Amino acid sequence: MRAEVLAELRAIVGPQYVLDRLEDRICYSTDATWERAVPDVVVLPETTEQVSRILRLANREGIPVTPRGAGTGLSGGAVPVRGGIVLSLTRMNRILEIDRRNLLAVVQPGVVTGDLQQAVEAVGLFYPPDPASLRVSTIGGNIAENAGGPRCFKYGVTRDYVLGLEVVLATGEVLRTGARTVKSVTGYDLTRLLVGSEGTLGVVTEATLRLIPKPEHQATLMAVFSRLEEAGEAVSRIVAAGVVPASLEIIDQTALKVVEEFLQIGLPTEAEAVLLISVDGWREAVARQVERVAGACREAGAAAVEVARTPEEEAELWRARRSLNPAVTRLGPVKVGEDVAVPPAQVPEFLRRFQYLRQKYTGLPMVVYGHAGDGNLHPNVVVDPRRPGERERVEAWLAELARLALDLGGTLSGEHGIGTLKAPFLEWEVGPVGLQVMRAIKRALDPRGILNPGKMGLDEGPAGEVAGGGGT
Ligand code: LAC
Ligand code: ZN
Repeated sequence: MRAEVLAELRAIVGPQYVLDRLEDRICYSTDATWERAVPDVVVLPETTEQVSRILRLANREGIPVTPRGAGTGLSGGAVPVRGGIVLSLTRMNRILEIDRRNLLAVVQPGVVTGDLQQAVEAVGLFYPPDPASLRVSTIGGNIAENAGGPRCFKYGVTRDYVLGLEVVLATGEVLRTGARTVKSVTGYDLTRLLVGSEGTLGVVTEATLRLIPKPEHQATLMAVFSRLEEAGEAVSRIVAAGVVPASLEIIDQTALKVVEEFLQIGLPTEAEAVLLISVDGWREAVARQVERVAGACREAGAAAVEVARTPEEEAELWRARRSLNPAVTRLGPVKVGEDVAVPPAQVPEFLRRFQYLRQKYTGLPMVVYGHAGDGNLHPNVVVDPRRPGERERVEAWLAELARLALDLGGTLSGEHGIGTLKAPFLEWEVGPVGLQVMRAIKRALDPRGILNPGKMGLDEGPAGEVAGGGGT
């Protein structure tokens, strides 16, 4: 990167917030995937105005800019594959407002999701989206990827809680979308367009988030099944019983064993699958939901149904669930995690066909768990990419899973985004016209292709090439 550009960046944010030493840049070269690319420089702005000046400069110079939250992403979204600037939003981490009368919060993008949840719960409110990474990941990253989580079965995903955004466009202009009202149909829904746009259309510098009253009570059950199909059957029966649990998670035997080895808390590793189910609401209603859910699980053939008796027991079960991702990571050098989603009634069929993939790819350790209630599943493989042919095998496995999800009427990504990992498959789902429309939107908002280039299969033509000149 040219010395004059670095000097300009230093003048904008202050010299200590421009990192250009190799050891610092390496720290910003990856996310939670196996993708890796070292940026030319890392810049840490503190205000919207600074973000705007950085983007104006990058746009003038044709320098790629990859926005970054906490780097916990699972699709390669924050990896600067074309070099250039990594724009870390972690210093913009203030909760600006919690408005109890209007049920909303205004936050900066670097606020850690779990911190926001604690802050609003302290005043009796609730921000439901709960990605497994919530202790680390940030609202800005959650918005960029339209993150989900276990509670999204009942409550919806990040997009359902974003009322409005402040976004800096590639040109440096500042756009405000949405309103402080639940209802707003003024013009195109730019908020929805930007949520989940993976940093390719703009940089979120502020978000107005919808809150709801905190449910009075919650209960968690673990249902143990000797056969995987019975667990699938239980999911259908729970839904048919008219209960919408806050969370309805499935963990298969391989995943149970891994997490038990990690935490040693006495999980039933002899089971082929367990369902972890939380119900919430008014206390009386919770008791009735527990009864119905337990009944549905028993009818489906559960070997045991246990209800957590104390908040500690409940927290422990959820800690086990949230530890799955890090626990699987211990199995080998690299973990590749999937997040396809299928219509919920297709979950049993998906699991059946997944068993076939397990046999086909012998020697690749696989686990599966996920959000069974909404059909969003997490097949994972553990690989050693240094072994010849291994990377190609995993890519073939990813392609098969994508086809499988689409065959069953599902989608490539339920919550992690397309990034680099699923870019080759995007057109299978959206079709040539869908891709054309997405590229037209990208061109309109980012004509020089500087914003997170190399993601979502959006790059094209000479503009993409300009953005590609990242250098070293
Ligand atoms: C989870 C992440 C992988 O649900 O989405 O654990
Ligand atoms: Zn998930």
